[in-house]
This record gives sequence, C-alpha cells and structure tokens, in this order.
Amino acid sequence: MANISGNRDLFGSKFGIIAAAAGSAIGLGNIWRFPYVLGQNGGAAFLLLYLFFIFAIGIPVLLSEFVIGRHSQSNPYQAFKTLKPGKKWYLIGVMGIAAAFMISAFYGAAAGWTIEYLVKAVTNQFAGSSPVQFENEFYNFRDSSLRAVLWQVLFMILTASIVLAGVKKGIEKYTKILMPLLLVIIIVLNIKALSLPGAGEGLKFLFQPDFSKITTRTILDALGQAFFSLSIGMGTLITYGSYISKKDNLANSAVIVSMADTAIAILAGIAIFPAVFAFNIAPGAGEGLVFITLPNIFQQMTGGYFFSVLFFLLLTVAALTSSISIMEVVVAFMVENLNMTRTNATIFTTIGISYLGTLCAMSWGGFKDFQIGQFNFFSLLDFTSSSILLPLGGMFIALFVGWFFPKKHVIEELTNRGELKAGYQRIFFFLLKFVAPWAIALVFLRGVGFLNF
Ligand code: PHE
Repeated sequence: MANISGNRDLFGSKFGIIAAAAGSAIGLGNIWRFPYVLGQNGGAAFLLLYLFFIFAIGIPVLLSEFVIGRHSQSNPYQAFKTLKPGKKWYLIGVMGIAAAFMISAFYGAAAGWTIEYLVKAVTNQFAGSSPVQFENEFYNFRDSSLRAVLWQVLFMILTASIVLAGVKKGIEKYTKILMPLLLVIIIVLNIKALSLPGAGEGLKFLFQPDFSKITTRTILDALGQAFFSLSIGMGTLITYGSYISKKDNLANSAVIVSMADTAIAILAGIAIFPAVFAFNIAPGAGEGLVFITLPNIFQQMTGGYFFSVLFFLLLTVAALTSSISIMEVVVAFMVENLNMTRTNATIFTTIGISYLGTLCAMSWGGFKDFQIGQFNFFSLLDFTSSSILLPLGGMFIALFVGWFFPKKHVIEELTNRGELKAGYQRIFFFLLKFVAPWAIALVFLRGVGFLNF
C-alpha cells in the first residue's frame, strides 16, 4: 500500500475510478435509506429538496474532495495538514474519522438485515406470506437481536477482508461488473412494480410534491441523505481521490458518479412506492420499508425466487463496496499517520466498529432501553453522522476549496495542468463560495430549534 511520501496504489483505469467511487456511493443509501427517509418525510417534496442539494451542493463538494485528495495524495487528516500546515483544517479529517466509525456501525447493522433477507431468499421463505406477515417477520427478526448481531459481525469481517487486500485489487474488481447488474435488476423490479394495481398512487407519492409536508426535519434529512448517498462530507472521496491517476478527468468522473447514484435512488423509489401502496404498507414505516415491501413483489412475480436471490446478493455486494470505502478512511489514516501496518489497522478498526455495530443491531432488542429523545442507538448514530457531521464536513470542505485553497491549485487539478478545458469552473466556484456553505449553515440554523430534544 501507499504511504504519504511515495507511490500510492492507484486505480487501474478511468473506468476503475468511476467504478470505485460509484461503488462507494451506490449502496444501502440508495436502496434502503433513500426510500425509507423519503417515506417518513412525505414523498415528492423531499425528493425535490434532495435533488436540489445533490446539484447545488453535492456535486461541487464531491469534486472538491477529489481535488483535495489528488492534490495532497493523502488521507483526509493528512491532506489538510499538508495543504494548510499549522492550521486547524485537519479537524475536518478528525470529524470524518468519527463519522466513519458511526456510519460503519449502523451501516453494518442494516447490511446484516440484508444478509438475513438473502438467506430468506435462498431458502425460499418469501413464498405464500401475506403483506402483514412480511411486516411481522421483519419486526420479529429485528427485535430478536442475536442473528442481527451475527450478520453484522460477518459483514464487518467481509469488509475487512477486502480492505486488507488493498484498494486496487479489492475495490475495482467487484464494482465493475456488479453495479451494472444491480441496475438491471432494479429495472426488472420497476417493470413489475409499475404493473401492480395502485401503482399510480405510489408514483404520485414519489413525484407529486405537497409542499405543506416540508418541515425543518425534512430539509435536514434531505441534505443528510444527499451527503450520505454521494459518500461525501467525511473524506471518503478525498481518500479515493488520492488514488486517482493524474490523467483522469475529475469533473467528468464526479458528474458521472453523482448521476448514477441519483438515478439508482430514484429507480429504487419507483420499485418501492407503487408496491407500498399496492400492498397497503405505511410509507413512513421506517428502517424496515424495503424489507417489508420488496418480498411482496418477489412473491408475486414470475421468476421471483431467482430475482430475489440475485437482488439481495447484489444489494449485499453494493453494501460491501460502500462499507469498504468507509473503513478505508480510518485505515488509511492509521497506516499513514499512526504508523500502523495495514493488517493491524484493519483489525483494530473492525473490532471497534463491530462493537458499535452490535449495539446498533440490538437497538430494538437487548439495547432498546437506550433512548435519547426520539432516538435509539441506531438512529442516534444515523442522524448524528448523516444529518449533522457529513453536512458540517461538507460545509468546511466547500469553504476550504472555495475560499482558502489557492485557486491556481484547484484549476491545476480540474484541468490536469492545462490539458483539459474546464468551462464549468465559474459555476463550480460560484456554488462553492456562495451557495454550498451558506445553504448548509442556513439549514443548520433552522435545525437548532429542532434539535432541542
Ligand atoms: N454512499 C453510501 C451508500 O449510499 C454510504 C456511504 C456514506 C459511504 C458515507 C461512504 C461514506 O450506501
């Protein structure tokens, strides 16, 4: 593996970086988290806010992370130390590491649920259940702790084994083939979902905004979901950016990754909401929404067995390619700044995350007495990291690249030292300087009132 001074392990090809960054971005965030958060926030109005945040804030911040990573050739913590020695900017990196721990923990728990559903699919357990039975089954499993914990730990071990193999071998290989396959199966699900009676109702929910549904929480959640889904705000893409070859076109990759990520989220919505209404499930059902909804579709479709196995398998892989990108933030920091070996860093991180992840997986079972206001342990980590730490990180990253980092260096990265045109740079700088940080600050100021739990 790489170290700060020398040859970093680079992604192999242009498609390699797009595949790796898309592998990070596309995951449970799109298929599990997006529909359930949208469902809780009343539908289409949330979608509009989400899209606005993706374009006005998400893409510029994503590109900024690539710029910082490739320019500094280091992990987020070291990156800011190198670029602004003696200043406090490296705290962005510290915050990112904290966020990485929290996200990995609840992410692993949700990935554990996915593995459970993969097992259910393989053993043909979806056949013949009613929507209400599917609902009960999910809650029974989630509340029963033990299997949820085991799957979570298994998932972290899988993540660790790929992280150990190093970036290039570990990450690129899986995403290149599997992400396009995931897209295909979601499209198959869309076709089936749209043919369900009541599909129109679901589409209305997803696409016909009712602005009276927008609350402060909605805005905060939409911002958080945009950051979470793009994997930005905590340095994942600074880390990956440091592995990008100097010849790749950063802006191009940033836009392709963001578009792919957004498209998959919307397609997941089109698969889920028609079914939500067709099977009479509450759109605001929460964390279980996908697991309650999709088995109903699989059960009714020709080839349901085959598609359900393939779907939950691919979703597990998609979760893995995201999870490794989160763990890589912590591991790269430990290797490069704490002088640990890659193996030790990975083991240490995995143990820490699995511990927190176990508490997340038990948040409805043995650890359900932990409650702070409306949050249990799982949702507390989720909310704190996604809706607070990531946007805050993004705000500082935007301020940094917009105002504090020499423009000349940014342009060097955008144009590959003058080889590429970057006609979009005015809008890029405009968004970074005048839109992104202030919009985030504004959302937070509104959020302060909400946060008095
Ligand atoms: N974007 C990933 C997903 O959608 C999750 C993630 C968040 C990955 C933050 C890295 C950093 O599943």
